[in-house]
Amino acid sequence: MGTLAGATLGVGCTPASTSYTARSSGSLALSSDDSTLYAVDTDNGVLAIVDLNAPTQKPSLIQVGKAPVRVVVGADDTIYVANRGDNTVSVVRKGAREVAATLQTGTEPTGLAFSTDGRQLLVTSATAKDTTAHGTLTAFDVATLEEQWSIPVGEEPRGVAVVAGNKALVSLYKKGEVAVVDLNTRTLVSNPSVNPVYAQANATRVEGVTTAAGTFRTTSTFHPRAAADVITTPDGTRAFTPVVWAREDAIARRPSSIGGYYGGGGPCSIGAVATAGIVTYDIAERTDTRVDDLTACVAVGANGSSQADFPVSTFASTATVVVPSGPPVRAVQGSTVGVTDPTGQWLFVVNRESQNVAVMPTYRRTGDDLDFARTSTSIRSLVGIGKGADGIAVTRDGTKAFVYSQFDHQIETIAASGRGDRAMLEQSGTPIRIAGDTLPADLVEGRKMFFDAIDTRMSAATTNVACSTCHLEGREDGHVWQFPDGPRQTPALAGRKLLSTAPFHWSGEFATIHDFNSHTIRERMGGSGTFDAAALDRWIDQLPTAPSPVSANLESAQRGRLAFEKAQCATCHTGALMTNNKMVDVGTLNLRGANRDNGIVEKSGFNVPSLLGLGRSAPYLHDGTERTLEDRVYANAGDKHGTTTVLSDAEKADLVVYLKSL
Ligand code: HEC
Ligand code: HEC
Repeated sequence: MGTLAGATLGVGCTPASTSYTARSSGSLALSSDDSTLYAVDTDNGVLAIVDLNAPTQKPSLIQVGKAPVRVVVGADDTIYVANRGDNTVSVVRKGAREVAATLQTGTEPTGLAFSTDGRQLLVTSATAKDTTAHGTLTAFDVATLEEQWSIPVGEEPRGVAVVAGNKALVSLYKKGEVAVVDLNTRTLVSNPSVNPVYAQANATRVEGVTTAAGTFRTTSTFHPRAAADVITTPDGTRAFTPVVWAREDAIARRPSSIGGYYGGGGPCSIGAVATAGIVTYDIAERTDTRVDDLTACVAVGANGSSQADFPVSTFASTATVVVPSGPPVRAVQGSTVGVTDPTGQWLFVVNRESQNVAVMPTYRRTGDDLDFARTSTSIRSLVGIGKGADGIAVTRDGTKAFVYSQFDHQIETIAASGRGDRAMLEQSGTPIRIAGDTLPADLVEGRKMFFDAIDTRMSAATTNVACSTCHLEGREDGHVWQFPDGPRQTPALAGRKLLSTAPFHWSGEFATIHDFNSHTIRERMGGSGTFDAAALDRWIDQLPTAPSPVSANLESAQRGRLAFEKAQCATCHTGALMTNNKMVDVGTLNLRGANRDNGIVEKSGFNVPSLLGLGRSAPYLHDGTERTLEDRVYANAGDKHGTTTVLSDAEKADLVVYLKSL
């Protein structure tokens, strides 16, 4: 068996490998000698230890914290597990059968990495311990397990990787950007508030074209989102972040027979309104991004020759792949994590929603089988895997990779097939089952449907979007879509008790969940809809609210609750779910421009939203025009949206704290 990477390909400008620490990511890791696999199972709350010399033996399980999501192994083979459900990191010593120590983190810790010298464990938390305003990067001393420092790194961080110069790259999940932290000085050296990925991807966008219908953009522009991971080459000079490119210009009604509304208009006419892609960071030269100009591909092709030295920024595949669950597909959607191979030439990206691993070059984008302009392929090979995949680890010699399929609770092996001169991978051996389902059978099915972009009952074979492509983690993506109904922000679903909050949509045009599903799945996603969506609805209905570190018991939050009542907010945002489920005009109608709100809301106003999980779901209102909760409370001309004029400034400040605690 050759190496996975096909080292004979003569790839140019590949730096020599110095170390190989970043050979795993997400829910799976390997011991330093490759003898042991560690997998974390989120539902079961366990770390599974698999002896690869006796893979048929039952894995040993160690109970860790609640909802473990990622695992890393230190130089001394100590294992660290990020437990998203209880804001801790579990520390397990080599060979031990129980947790040795538990570290406290901010809300929903996810990303784990080590500093260049291996002495610090770095952890990202989705929010700080006391505010939803930003997440954090925290360093723990691996010798003493003491927290050394913690700094703000922007909104909703997830992935982290350490690159050359002892810098940490942190992916900001909803924003689709990466923050750069200098670990020596503990400072944020590049704050993505200036949106460098966005600016490059939309470099030649045409804005402000005025016609009789109003002023609008003429070319699609794309907002990067869903940046779950940062992947580095072994020498730490190049890094990658998978994203979803979300269309920003007006989306037209399309018949379901051609894939539905969500089917068209991806970057360079690839994919759908939400299309998977990748952002490259070149650390050696500058700590900056390299992204195709996604608005210019008609003229120069996505594979413009002047930009030949980094992977194509949108995933496209002409190869089909057999996934264990159904007919062959060639979609890539829902990237969760990735790694590079030991030579640093190949990037493996795990795609949960399309149930495959995509292999693409880290430096090269030309050649017989990778010339995007000629073949429309940015991927060298695709291999099918199970459901819910969110972990990958590659052996030191690069002959094998393991993937953890979280919804199937099993480890799958992929290896070079040895067919032809292509680095073709295939599934190999029998999956290693770690644990069983903890959710009732219907919710197990419902979750699988929610995260599935390739089941044609859900989404057309040419559209390939999943519910989770926009409702990230069952929540939202902060994106405002220019729908035929007007500008519409993706609402959070988690914690908002779907089954008790009819009608649906900001315009409230769907009176029942059945009508809603049948419209969304058939008309928008182009799916056949030939299944009973009740399990999907029940799964969404039971999702917990995005946790907030702002306690409702704070005195300011309690004063804020009184201010909420004083300003009449509770007349509409009432009851446990904080909505009366009615339609009301609160002065937020957008009746100007090419993409004005529809006639339904002109007549009756908007569907009153639930306010649960608000601190994590910025921006606000149907069109995302209020960026923060401060905007919501302070900008309220004419008291149309609650009577905020009766509140003092101190009461308004308390009200904001209360809203963040919901
Ligand atoms: C392309 C992005 C996208 C995809 C894919 C998507 N949604 Fe949505 N979803 C939205 C947006 C945007 C809205 C608000 C639309 C509106 O109000 O007109 C929405 C609204 C909803 C609502 C209404 C919430 C409420 O309180 O009124 C539900 C429920 C929902 N989506 C569930 C789903 C499910 C289930 C799927 C998969 C079958 C799905 N969505 C797929 C973006 C998306
Ligand atoms: C008369 C009914 C009514 C009252 C009173 C009211 N709201 Fe609302 N609220 C709405 C409606 C309708 C929307 C949706 C408007 C839109 O999206 O354009 C909304 C939206 C919101 C949102 C955005 C939620 C999201 O997920 O984007 C927040 C936050 C909010 N209201 C807070 C408040 C506060 C705080 C008060 C009191 C100061 C208040 N509301 C009073 C009806 C009301």
